[in-house]
Amino acid sequence: MMKRDVVNNNLLEQTIEYLNINYKKLCQCPSNHINCMTAKEWMKAQIGVWQFYYEGRDIRDKELHPATYPISLAKKCIELFTHQGELVIDPFVGSGTTLVAARDINRNAVGFDLHKKYIDLSKNRLSQQTIFSETQQIAICDDARNIPNYFKPETVSLFLTSPPYANLLDRKRKNKSRRSEQRKNSQYDKIEQYSQDPRDIGTLFLEKYSNEIGEIFRKLFPLLKVKGHCVINVPDMWWENERITIHISIVEALRKVGYELRNIIIWDRTNIVNRIGIFGWPSNYITMGVTFEYLLHFWRPPA
Ligand SMILES: C[S@@+](CC[C@H](N)C(=O)[O-])C[C@H]1O[C@@H](n2cnc3c(N)ncnc32)[C@H](O)[C@@H]1O
Repeated sequence: MMKRDVVNNNLLEQTIEYLNINYKKLCQCPSNHINCMTAKEWMKAQIGVWQFYYEGRDIRDKELHPATYPISLAKKCIELFTHQGELVIDPFVGSGTTLVAARDINRNAVGFDLHKKYIDLSKNRLSQQTIFSETQQIAICDDARNIPNYFKPETVSLFLTSPPYANLLDRKRKNKSRRSEQRKNSQYDKIEQYSQDPRDIGTLFLEKYSNEIGEIFRKLFPLLKVKGHCVINVPDMWWENERITIHISIVEALRKVGYELRNIIIWDRTNIVNRIGIFGWPSNYITMGVTFEYLLHFWRPPA
């Protein structure tokens, strides 16, 4: 840990210990390049609809964690918005997928989660990888609200995360996207919420949730390098036949606190969902929430 002294209103002096982790690039790429990609790799990444497959190392067991994204998704975002050696932060790291991806492609990364069981899972996943690495990946059990205590301003190249979806997991799961004979699986009628801890932003109704997300990202903003990136993965959802547009709430919340929306990418999940049920037919047209999600791409704009 590195120490620094802070003077608050010239009255109180306190010592803050920063996490000792590198954030400078290790590659020889020119400084105006946003990543280490070749022109050919860049071209492939220009398509705005992305598909991924889960691999053996991915966590798909809902008992271990109810809502993970694939390692390949995290890897693609990290490759696009950082250089080797730069620092990635995941404020809601869950099972540690962002950290596993960062290690695969030689980026420093720190992930935070409120719940020790998920931090233990993240650490376990990281310990299974034995390859030599010049970079560090660290999982820390803490509230995302405390992240500014760990890092110097303007050291982070990318925030990458998938936050809780307001309190929309906080209800009994009915598996309506599945065919009727498959609905009553091990998740049926269970609540897949992470916890009832009031600090858990998955316990909040949409309006309070949006305020809290805005507040957390407002505090994170100074840590981001100028022109640093922030990618947030969220779906929208149906609640009592009403479309809950979580992605719009997040865009509005982040814009208010200084982030600029650069892009919206669609994560097309149709290759990983199968045997979906008939829902709404023939009078109520709705699309299955599970078939796509958003990747909201923001940056810290130049002043
Ligand atoms: C959608 S999951 C992240 C999943 C992750 N992308 C993965 O692949 O495993 C969101 C996580 O946010 C955590 N969380 C909720 N409120 C939090 C808070 N205030 N601070 C830190 N983590 C929090 C939950 O415990 C949950 O694991």
